[in-house]
Amino acid sequence: MAVHASPFTWLILICFGIGFLIGCGGAIDSNSRQVYIVYMGDLPKGDVSIQSLHISMLQGVVPRAASEVLLYSYRRSFSGFAAKLTTDEANKLRDKEGVVSVFLSQKKQLHTSRTWEFMGFNKKTKTSVIESDIIVGMIDSGVWPESESFNDTGFGPVPNKWKGSCQNLANFTCNKKIIGARYYLSDDETDPTDILSPRDSDGHGTHTASTAAGGLVSHASLYGLAKGTVRGGVPSARIAVYKVCWSYGCSDEDILAAFDDAIADGVDVISVSLGSSFASDYFYDSIAIGSFHAMKNGILTSNSAGNGGPVPASVFNVSPWSLSVAANTIDRKFFTKVKLGNNQIYEGATINTFDLKGKMYPFIYAGDAPNATLGAASFYSRYCLPGSLNTTIVRGKIVFCEYFIGWDSDGVMQAGAAGAVFQDAENKDYQFSFPLPVSNVNMNDGRIILNYLNTTENPTATIFKTTQDNNQFAPFVVSFSSRGPNPVTADILKPDITAPGVDILAAWSESETTSVSESQGDTRITKYNIISGTSMSCPHATGAAAYVKSFHPTWSPAAIRSALMTTAIPMTPMNNIEGEFAYGAGHINPLQATDPGLVYDAGEIDYVKFLCGQGYTVKNIQLITGDSSSCSDETNGTVWDLNYPSFALSSTPGKSFSRVFHRTVTNVGPAVSTYKAVINAPPVLVIQVQPSVLSFEYVGQKQSFVVTIEAQLGNSMASGSLIWDDGVHKVKSPIVAYASLMQ
Ligand SMILES: *[C@@H]1O[C@H](CO)[C@@H](O)[C@H](O)[C@H]1NC(C)=O
Ligand SMILES: *[C@@H]1O[C@H](CO)[C@@H](O)[C@H](O)[C@H]1NC(C)=O
Ligand SMILES: *[C@@H]1O[C@H](CO)[C@@H](O)[C@H](O)[C@H]1NC(C)=O
Ligand SMILES: *[C@@H]1O[C@H](CO)[C@@H](O)[C@H](O)[C@H]1NC(C)=O
Ligand SMILES: *[C@@H]1O[C@H](CO)[C@@H](O)[C@H](O)[C@H]1NC(C)=O
Ligand SMILES: *[C@@H]1O[C@H](CO)[C@@H](O)[C@H](O)[C@H]1NC(C)=O
Repeated sequence: MAVHASPFTWLILICFGIGFLIGCGGAIDSNSRQVYIVYMGDLPKGDVSIQSLHISMLQGVVPRAASEVLLYSYRRSFSGFAAKLTTDEANKLRDKEGVVSVFLSQKKQLHTSRTWEFMGFNKKTKTSVIESDIIVGMIDSGVWPESESFNDTGFGPVPNKWKGSCQNLANFTCNKKIIGARYYLSDDETDPTDILSPRDSDGHGTHTASTAAGGLVSHASLYGLAKGTVRGGVPSARIAVYKVCWSYGCSDEDILAAFDDAIADGVDVISVSLGSSFASDYFYDSIAIGSFHAMKNGILTSNSAGNGGPVPASVFNVSPWSLSVAANTIDRKFFTKVKLGNNQIYEGATINTFDLKGKMYPFIYAGDAPNATLGAASFYSRYCLPGSLNTTIVRGKIVFCEYFIGWDSDGVMQAGAAGAVFQDAENKDYQFSFPLPVSNVNMNDGRIILNYLNTTENPTATIFKTTQDNNQFAPFVVSFSSRGPNPVTADILKPDITAPGVDILAAWSESETTSVSESQGDTRITKYNIISGTSMSCPHATGAAAYVKSFHPTWSPAAIRSALMTTAIPMTPMNNIEGEFAYGAGHINPLQATDPGLVYDAGEIDYVKFLCGQGYTVKNIQLITGDSSSCSDETNGTVWDLNYPSFALSSTPGKSFSRVFHRTVTNVGPAVSTYKAVINAPPVLVIQVQPSVLSFEYVGQKQSFVVTIEAQLGNSMASGSLIWDDGVHKVKSPIVAYASLMQ
C-alpha cells in the first residue's frame, strides 16, 4: 500500500463538519445481493469439470440462472467461486459439502534509484545465468509498458515454462520483459480514469514492478530529485502483471482470480503490495488463501505488512506461509524550506518540485480568508478544509494553515493559492508530494510564523524547491509501517523483515490522470516518481527473493524466506522502541541471502500440522490440501514447533512462563561444517539450546534441536537472538517474548 495524504479530511468534513450524512454508514438489506467468495480448497482429483461443479452448487441455492450471479470460477490452481448472493444463499452454501469458507468480498487497498546500492547491492553485483528465466508475478494496479524500466532490448525468448497470456487491449502490448498481463474486474463501479486493460492508470503497479524487476535506467529522477540509476532487484528477470486494483480499491474476488492464474502461469515469486485494514482468519482472507496455494506450488508470496503503524498489532498480512515486509528509511531525506519577508527560514518535510525562484508572494493566515457562505466559516478556513476558503482573497497568495489531523492540500488548491505552509503536529519521517508548492512546518515553527503573520503589515513568503540531505540514522522502520504483534497467531512473529519503503524513486505511469501527487489539478506527468509505503518495501523483498531463487531454483518458499530472514542486518531498538515488532529479523541483505549456510525449511505438511494445532477441522484441512491429511497426535503440531526462522511466545501479563520450540535446519552451505549456538538475551529471558553444536557431513543434511525459553516479563516485551555460527555464516533468528492482553 502506498501512503496517501488525504484519508481523513474529507471523511470528517462530510460526516461531522457540514452535516451531510450520506456515505457515513448505512445498513445492508438482507435480500440484496453482495459478492461472496466460496472457497473450496485444492483442485479436486480426477477428471471433473470444476466449473460445472460450481454451477450446480449455485443452482442448488439460487433461484435464477447461475450465469447471472457467477463472477468467477477458480479452477486453475485451487477451487472456489465468487458470486452475487443474498445472506441466506451464502449461509446455505456454507453448509455444503466441499466448502471450506464463505465470506463477503471486501475491498483491499493499495498499501527507488539508490535503494539497492544502499542495501550493498550495486550494478556490478553478480547475477545468476538463469536470472532471465525468473518470472516475477505482480498483483497490483497494472503497468505502464512503455516505461524505459521495461525495455526488452537484449532479452532472449520468453522462458518455456511460461503458460500465461497477454491481453493486448487499448494499446497495451507485452514484450520480452513484460511477458504477460491481464486485468481482473468484476465490479461495475469503475471511474472514467480506470483503463480497461492491464495498463496502469494509477502509477502504483508500475512503481512496484520496476522496483522488483525493472531494468537499469541511468539518470532517472523526479525533476532532479533523487537523481541516479534506478533498477529492480532482478533487472534481467521477466514480469507478469495481474491488474486487480482500480480507483475504488482491489476486490477479494479479483485478487483470488489473479492468484489462480499466476500460480498456473508459472511465476516464480508473487508480489502483493496491498491489504485489508483488519485481520481475518487465514481461510477468510483472499491473500492468505492465494498465497497458501502459491506455497503449495513452490511459489513464495511477498506481502506488504501494511501502513497501519505505529499502532501495535496493526500488521494484517500475517499468514505463516508468506513473507511480511515492513518499511524503513534509506540514507537520504528531503526537506522544503520556507522563507518569510523577515528573512527567517523554516524547514518542512514535503517533496516540492515547483520552483518559485525565490519570488516573494503575499502571505496570509487562512483564518483571515473564510468563505462567508459557510456558517462558522473561519472555524473551517483556518485549517484550509476543502470549500472553506474565499477564493477572491486567497488566489495567487501563499496561505498558512493551522494543524488539522490528516491535513491535505485540496482546500488551498481549490482556492487557487500560489502555495501553502501547513503546521504539522507529527514529526514526519516520510514526505508527500502536493499539486502546488507546499511545506509543512512543526507546531512550534508554525506558532512563530503565525505570530509573524499577525504582527506584520503586508507579510510575504516563498517556498523553495525540495533539497536532499543524508539521513544519518538510517535505516529505521518508518512510523507508518504496521507493527506486530501478530493479531491472528500471537506466537508467530510478524512482520518478518524490513526493506526500504520511504521516498523511493521508481517508474511511474504517464497517463493524463496519473500526476506526481495523484491529486486533482496536478498536471505534472513524469516517467519516475517518489512515493512511500510498505507497498514500496514489499517489491524490494520480492526482488531479493527472486534473486535468491535465481541462484537456488529448487529452494522452497520457506527456504528462501529463511535465507532472507537469517541473513538480515540486525537493527536496534534504540531507533524503534517496538524492536522486532517493527523490523522482524532486520534489514534485508539480498547478497548475503544467497549464502545463508543453513535454512529453516518447511513444506505444506508443516503448515498442515500448524493448522491442526490451531484447531482447524480435519474436514477443512483435507479440502485445503486436497489429500487425506488428518490431525492425529503426531501431526497435531504446536505453533511453537512450526519450523519458522524466528521465535515468538506470548503470555498473560505478570506471569512467568516457559515454552519448548522444536526446530530443524538444513545444510545449504559447505558439506562438512560445524555450527555452534550463540545466544544473546537479556536476564529476563533464559534460553537453552539442545544440542548446542550441530555437525554436518553433506549438503542437504538436516539436524534438529530444541530451544527452551523461560521468560519473566511483567507487562513488557523482551527480545534476544539465537545465532548458529560456523565461523563464516551467522544464521540468526530473533527471539521475542511478550505479555499480551489478547490471551
Ligand atoms: C530500448 O533500449 C535500447 C538500447 O538502449 C534503445 O535503443 C531503444 O530505443 C529502447 N527502446 C525504447 C522503446 O525505448
Ligand atoms: C493508442 O496510441 C495512439 C498512438 O500513440 C494514441 O493516439 C491513442 O490515444 C492511444 N490510445 C489509448 C487508448 O491509449
Ligand atoms: C470574499 O472576499 C471578498 C473580499 O474580501 C468579499 O468581498 C466577499 O464577500 C467574500 N466572499 C465570501 C463568499 O465570503
Ligand atoms: C464560496 O463558497 C460557495 C459554495 O461553495 C461557492 O459557490 C463560492 O464560489 C465561494 N466563494 C468564494 C469567493 O470563494
Ligand atoms: C493576533 O493578535 C491578536 C492581538 O495580539 C490576538 O488577540 C489574536 O489572537 C492573534 N491571532 C492569532 C491568530 O494568533
Ligand atoms: C490439536 O491440538 C489442539 C490444541 O492443543 C486442540 O485444540 C485440538 O483439538 C487437537 N486436535 C486433534 C485432532 O488432536
